[in-house]
Amino acid sequence: IRQDYDEVSSYVAHYVKERINQFQPTPERPFVLGLPTGSSPIGVYAKLVDLHRIGQISFKNVITFNMDEYVGLPRNHPESYHSFMWNHLFKHVDINMKHVHILDGNATDLDEECRRFEALIARVGGIELFLGGIGPDGHIAFNEPGSSLTSRTRVKTLAYETIIANARFFEGDVTKVPKLALTVGVATVMDAREVLVVITGAHKSIALAKCIEEGVNHMWTVSAMQMHPKGLIVCDEDATLEL
Ligand code: GLP
Repeated sequence: IRQDYDEVSSYVAHYVKERINQFQPTPERPFVLGLPTGSSPIGVYAKLVDLHRIGQISFKNVITFNMDEYVGLPRNHPESYHSFMWNHLFKHVDINMKHVHILDGNATDLDEECRRFEALIARVGGIELFLGGIGPDGHIAFNEPGSSLTSRTRVKTLAYETIIANARFFEGDVTKVPKLALTVGVATVMDAREVLVVITGAHKSIALAKCIEEGVNHMWTVSAMQMHPKGLIVCDEDATLEL
């Protein structure tokens, strides 16, 4: 538990830096990092960019996999997760864009795209550290309430609550929010050797309580973290209101 969003962001950015540097990635043995979007990780990315600028972290031998992407949004749409990642992280650091993997929400065969993504993760030996955020309903990636805890990458219909929550990025207009997304599954995230989830704000306090103080439950998919041997939740004081 850290005081506020800023302290959470610093903590997580330093944590990622330490992990990558300890790992000493090389072209033959890259570090595989799972990444989220949303407002939760924006501060983490800003701090990673700062750490990169002062030479404390390099992404040269880092391979990334993003959690999810909207279906049908053009890749260059300002709210696509491709645009988000480029603007908040990739354009500022020394990552090789060939090492960046983001699901293609415009693929002609979406199921095949999801299979391809899972196969790629397996081919690089799995994900070392998966960073995540959650929605106020406790979803991780786009694994909405009711998602199987053994789910893999697939097409998902967004819950109405998620559409409302994300409308703020689409001029507040729910009709402009895509209704479908491609998302890694709960099991895809839990397969990572380490999972770190950022939870900030009072609006997520019920989700945090459900996820760590109640049983593992597919209605609050991030509760699967309880089963992970190396799962870490970094939250601010506001998010602890219901604990
Ligand atoms: C979307 C994303 C999730 C993210 C969630 C919370 O639903 N698919 O990965 O965790 O938003 O977003 P925010 O951090 O903006 O609250």
